[in-house]
Amino acid sequence: MNQEKPKLTESRIPGAPTYPAARLTLRLLDELFGGDGADEVGVRLWDGMDTAQEQKLDHICRKLRLQPGQRLLDVGCGWGGLVIHAAQQYGVDATGITLSQPQADLANERIATAGLTNRCRALVRDYREMDKPGGYDALVSVGMFEHVGAALLPTYFARAWQLLKPGGVFLNHGIANTTTDRPRRSPSFSDTYVFPDGELVPISTTLRVAEEAGFEVRDVESLREHYALTLRHWVRRLEAHHEQALQFVDEPTYRVWRPFMSGSAHGFSVGRLNVYQALLVRPGGRGRNARPTTTTLIGGTMLTQQAILDALRPVVDPEIGISVVDLGMIREIAIEGDKVEVKMVLTTPFCPLAGMIAEQVRQTAATVEGVKEAKVTLLDEPWNPAWMQR
Ligand SMILES: C[S@@+](CC[C@H](N)C(=O)[O-])C[C@H]1O[C@@H](n2cnc3c(N)ncnc32)[C@H](O)[C@@H]1O
Repeated sequence: MNQEKPKLTESRIPGAPTYPAARLTLRLLDELFGGDGADEVGVRLWDGMDTAQEQKLDHICRKLRLQPGQRLLDVGCGWGGLVIHAAQQYGVDATGITLSQPQADLANERIATAGLTNRCRALVRDYREMDKPGGYDALVSVGMFEHVGAALLPTYFARAWQLLKPGGVFLNHGIANTTTDRPRRSPSFSDTYVFPDGELVPISTTLRVAEEAGFEVRDVESLREHYALTLRHWVRRLEAHHEQALQFVDEPTYRVWRPFMSGSAHGFSVGRLNVYQALLVRPGGRGRNARPTTTTLIGGTMLTQQAILDALRPVVDPEIGISVVDLGMIREIAIEGDKVEVKMVLTTPFCPLAGMIAEQVRQTAATVEGVKEAKVTLLDEPWNPAWMQR
């Protein structure tokens, strides 16, 4: 690993040029990505990307256990969604930094619209220029770390450690490759056309370098399946807004992003790619830190919901021969403790097989680990073939 300290101008990320959204409108951003580019954390199938976005932001804030008055730094804040959510919902003083002027401008516009200018801001700043030791109670970095690259990882974690108060917490959210990935002989499609300055590292490398910088690793969560789902939504949204997208980028750029996102969805589905949230703590004195003694974190419910859905996928509607999940018949999965309620519609409500399908769904949901009681509620609404597209 090259440990030589790079000049700031040698940041792996080219900043604004990587984000062609210089002229992107907030409306299109919402329509394409559901806000900031939501990762589909805990999304309920029948809701959309906007709910997914809210859930993702909240998932992060809850992991950080933000308290009113605390100071939060979002490294690579994008369009400002996370700093706004944290200031609004958790009462923190939130600063976001980005390399992109258009991102900072739009983020500050959104902050002003939300009436949060007194405790929320976005700055155009490289993280290595942030130099207030112990200035923050919490740090977060979402989707920025992929641009750091292996050579700069020690610098990245050392700076994060320095910026945090003792006992402070850092949530690092980023895509990873696997240790078994063979080195490529030539640059990939993504290296060539999408992220020429990006570099993925395995989670084991990330955690090792974080520990070497002095962090204690408290929790690591993989959100791989969520990313596959998210990317599929993004591809569909991009295709549905082809004409609008061409007002901002040219056709070749559109054609690059479509296969890039589809290919990435495949990568996450098969496990070639992963995405992790690593929760790190700068230890306080004598092992004290800001975490509670229990290691139980949030997230179990969301993952169970996904597990139920995965379990239900092999259940087919015998008349159509397609999975009830792919048909869009499962409209809601409600979880309360170890009780699960699957709310579904039937493709042909009066068919004699209706009861059998519902019972098969119930029995299958009951086999999922952690489920004690499962019930199925048949919703009184007609099945819509358009749901198959979701
Ligand atoms: C893929 S975007 C992620 C944005 C946002 N966190 C989200 O999840 O939607 C990466 C962000 O990291 C920022 N970034 C990259 N390198 C950076 C650096 N050296 N210092 C500060 N921000 C950086 C970019 O400007 C951009 O805002």
